[in-house]
Formats: sequence, C-alpha cells, structure tokens
Amino acid sequence: MLVPLRAILEATEKEHYAQGAFNVNAVAQAKAAIQVHEMFRSPAILQGADLANGFMGGRTDFMNATLEDKKVGAQNIGNAVKKYGEDSPIPVALHLDHGRDFDSCKAAIAGGYTSVMIDGSSLPFEENIELTREVVKYAHERGVSVEAELGVLAGVEDHVFSAGSTYTNPLDAVEFIKKTKVDALAISYGTMHGANKGKGAKLRKEIAIATKECLLHEGIFCALVSHGSSTVPQYIVKEINELGGDIQNAYGIELAQLKEAARCGIAKINVDTDIRLAVTRNMKELFHYRPELQNSASIGQIYRLLEEKKTAFDPRAFLPPIMNTVMYGDVPDEDVAAIVDCI
Ligand code: G3H
Ligand code: 13P
Ligand code: NA
Ligand code: ZN
Repeated sequence: MLVPLRAILEATEKEHYAQGAFNVNAVAQAKAAIQVHEMFRSPAILQGADLANGFMGGRTDFMNATLEDKKVGAQNIGNAVKKYGEDSPIPVALHLDHGRDFDSCKAAIAGGYTSVMIDGSSLPFEENIELTREVVKYAHERGVSVEAELGVLAGVEDHVFSAGSTYTNPLDAVEFIKKTKVDALAISYGTMHGANKGKGAKLRKEIAIATKECLLHEGIFCALVSHGSSTVPQYIVKEINELGGDIQNAYGIELAQLKEAARCGIAKINVDTDIRLAVTRNMKELFHYRPELQNSASIGQIYRLLEEKKTAFDPRAFLPPIMNTVMYGDVPDEDVAAIVDCI
C-alpha cells in the first residue's frame, strides 16, 4: 500500500531501528526496488531527487530541467510506484528528495508523491522556517509528509573535518521542528553527498543524540534523517575500475557507523551513490560478458558512453539512448531489456 513517509518513520521510533531510503533515477527502477523490499518484508522509501524528476520527465540535460519537465517526471514515477506499490503487502512511500522550492513540491504531490522534502538549508534560519511552514501547510492538508533540512552537510576532506559551523545545532533543530511541525528533519553531523567522503569519515553522533533527547523529553515526534550515507563498497569501485572505469578516492560511511547512528536517534538513512555505482558496474559487466551487445543498434551507444566517460557513475550519463524506457518503462527489444535488468 502507498503511505505517507511519516507512517513508516513512526514505526522506527517504537522499534528502535532506522529505515533505508533509496533514490531512483529512472522510472524503470521502481518495480525491482519494490520487489527487493518485499523479499525482505521491509517497508520501502523510494525517493526521487528534484533533478531526477526532470530526468524522468525526459530531460536528458536534467541540470536544466524546468518545472514542466519535473511535473512530467513526477507523474511518470508516481504512476510506476502506484502500479507496483498499491497492491503490495508492504508500506511504500514515494518521497521527493531535496525539493528546491515550493513549486517542485507541488509538482511532486500532483504526480503522486506521498512525501516531499523542502531543502531550505541554504537559507537563513528564519527564512528556512517560513518556507518549510508553507510547504507543511500545503502538504499536510493533502495527507503528504514533509522533510526539511537544517545545517549544511559537512564533509571530511584529507582526513580533516571542514568548518564545524555547518553542523546542525540541536537546540536550533528543536526550535525549527516546533515552529514548522515537519515530520522529518535532515541534520548535518558529518556525512556528505557523493562518492568522495574521505577515508575514515567520523560521524558526530552526539548531535543526533542531543536533538532526539530534547524531542523525546518534550513529547514531539520528528524523524532525524542522515543524508549522504552511502557506504561506497570498495569491491564495487574495484570492479568498475577493472572494467575500464576511473573512479578515484571513493570512500563512504562505514556500515558500523550507520548502525550506531540508528541507535542514536537517526530514523532514515539516505542512499543514492551506492546504487549509482552498482548500476554502472552492472552495465559495464553486461558489455564485458556479452561483447556482441557493444554493436547493438538500440544500446550500443550506451557502451560507447561508458567507454568515453570513465570517471562517471551517474546512470543518467549513460541512459539517454533508451529514454522512452527510462520514462515510461516500455521495453521494446531484448537488448533494451538487458540494460533495464542492470538498473
Ligand atoms: O542527495 C541528493 C541526490 O543524491 C542528488 O541527486 O543529482 O538528482 O540532484 P541529483
Ligand atoms: P549519498 O550520495 O551518500 O548516496 O547520499 C544520498 C542522499 O543523501 C540523497 O538525499
Ligand atoms: Na530526503
Ligand atoms: Zn541528500
């Protein structure tokens, strides 16, 4: 069944676990993503980032996606998640990741998203509160959950933490939650987005603990979210590079730290990069083990893109040649079906 994000996250608080939230970058990923969660009898949070909605709306240069593109993409992924999630025995939420503005959130909701993130983390505190409140009012009236963000994701580079001022202040977080009534809040406590988080990144779990303790003390529910939580499995990086890729300095968050974070009040753990790496590896393997596909009329161009863009691991860099399948899940020939299996 399709549910708002809050329903899935409230359960984590009672049972003291954290829920993974996995990004989709192509409509064709929805079916398998839901099936895998069903196998584990786990609830599912699938999330499409703002620009991913643009891509799933057919915009190959998704960095320039317009609101119109995002509307089409939200509808496409919304339809697919409805198709495979509605009659599923597990709860499924479709969540907008890093919504940039109110209009992006509205487009997601219109397309069938059951939850939206409004990312006002780059705004001054009071403006972030104002924007988030507006979105909360609109979304809650429609039974849709809201995630917001406070603090700028700090990174670790060359084994040294960047400026501490970007970490979330727990007291600010509690004030923010009280004033906005958000269902979930992304905090900055040492994670960062992407595949280059630095070796041995260490999470400042006391930030999560202090925030959660205050919320529990005041009897307020709000799920704390860990963004930038990919583990960047070294064996996948190695496999990509052995197949001709060039991914350097790629390190993630250790799994043990994420497990610890779950015990410290983190309820939602966001993963995108790991899936992108795995998809890239899968596609490279496909062309390696089935070299005849390198000259396929429908997907040969994907092989040439993989060969040319050695440092890339964003599937969106390789998928434009099969855009109709990415958008609408129509799989016209066997070769295209083989690529869809990779994603
Ligand atoms: O945290 C956000 C996503 O991993 C970034 O996705 O490349 O679609 O903006 P994007
Ligand atoms: P990663 O880049 O670590 O996968 O983080 C994803 C994320 O935070 C999505 O919002
Ligand atoms: Na999010
Ligand atoms: Zn994020």
